[in-house]
Amino acid sequence: MTLHCEEMPFSQLAQTFGTPLYVYSQSALTEAFAAYQTAFADLNPLVCYAVKANGNLSIIKHFAELGSGFDIVSGGELARVLAAGGDAAKVIFSGVGKSEAEIEYALNAGVKCFNMESLPEIDRIQAVAARLGKTAPVSLRINPDVDPKTHPYISTGLKANKFGIAYDDALAAYRHAVAQPNLNVVGIDCHIGSQLTDLTPLTEACERLLALVDTLAAEGIVLEHVDLGGGVGIVYQNEEVPDLAAYAAAVKRLFGNRQLKLVLEPGRSLVGNAGNLLTRVEFVKHGEEKNFVMVDAAMNDLMRPALYDAYHHIENTEEKHTPPILANIVGPICETGDFLGKDRQIACESGDLLVVRSAGAYAASMASNYNARNRAAEVLVNGDTARLIRHRETLEQQMANELACL
Ligand code: LLP
Repeated sequence: MTLHCEEMPFSQLAQTFGTPLYVYSQSALTEAFAAYQTAFADLNPLVCYAVKANGNLSIIKHFAELGSGFDIVSGGELARVLAAGGDAAKVIFSGVGKSEAEIEYALNAGVKCFNMESLPEIDRIQAVAARLGKTAPVSLRINPDVDPKTHPYISTGLKANKFGIAYDDALAAYRHAVAQPNLNVVGIDCHIGSQLTDLTPLTEACERLLALVDTLAAEGIVLEHVDLGGGVGIVYQNEEVPDLAAYAAAVKRLFGNRQLKLVLEPGRSLVGNAGNLLTRVEFVKHGEEKNFVMVDAAMNDLMRPALYDAYHHIENTEEKHTPPILANIVGPICETGDFLGKDRQIACESGDLLVVRSAGAYAASMASNYNARNRAAEVLVNGDTARLIRHRETLEQQMANELACL
């Protein structure tokens, strides 16, 4: 038995493109997007893929072709969306610290909405829009103060986080925003965190936003859309994840007969389990207390285990007839934190090809050149064909912007 991505054997992909290699399944991307469209069909939502999860141009292009909008957090992400053929009119510009240059770029491009996170940001967007003689469509990111019950580094909707406008300050912030001549206040948004495995915080956040929508309407501030932020969590190991149909049903019930458009900004759940990281075993090292499987991928290719102690399933792509050993699966970087998996039962030997699962989201997009390692190549598999969607970086490219001044 040999493992495949769609109809392509991983071994063939590794032979053709080398390792480490990110491998994405096109049909898995399509299915994940369709799952949102189907579950929320009654609400006819605008699904805006959160580009930060994986900003590869081909992946953006694929979602654009499926009709997706995009959630961006920087001018760089907007440039990627436009380069890949995405529609600016379906772009939501999120992010807590937009620069004037980024606001100007997005206003000129004609994005659908700026999600604003603070009073100074409201003033900044007003000032840039006034200077350009434009009107900026805006939403306020309100912090619903619900506990998303996820890793503290990816919780964003609590009072103590840097994100959003405090719930109790929301009315005052809206009154300030509607008083600005160059802002058109069209929405309300939130994002309480990522890798959410419990539905309750998501529906509570929705309920709290809708209560505000009603209070605002009573004041004559009538909003067009509610943006509930990122998507649901995914299965990395054995997590119970929220059912999209149940989420959609809850949102539909809460919306009632309000005339509001729904916006969603899923990232991880659209790409996470469509991606794999292929890596070759260099050696198996039997230490005094631990065994180590040294592989050619490292924390620079997949930061999540080092940063969040995240679990990614790791398998040998070929069936082995030797007994498994208990080992840490580690990269060659000079850091104890450079591990992809800890205390795994795995049968493997030097030269074997391993696949790290769930590596479509926040893997390539968080990669770095640490230890002067080149960024890995990426391929998109469709049935029995594979397309290179990012060349493996070369050392020349890695050093191109540096100057060796004497
Ligand atoms: N919208 C906003 C405003 C966000 O900040 C995020 C993610 C999303 C949408 C997408 O959320 P998702 O559907 O992916 O849960 N690097 C971390 C995840 C950081 C998420 C940051 N914001 C990780 O690897 O787990």
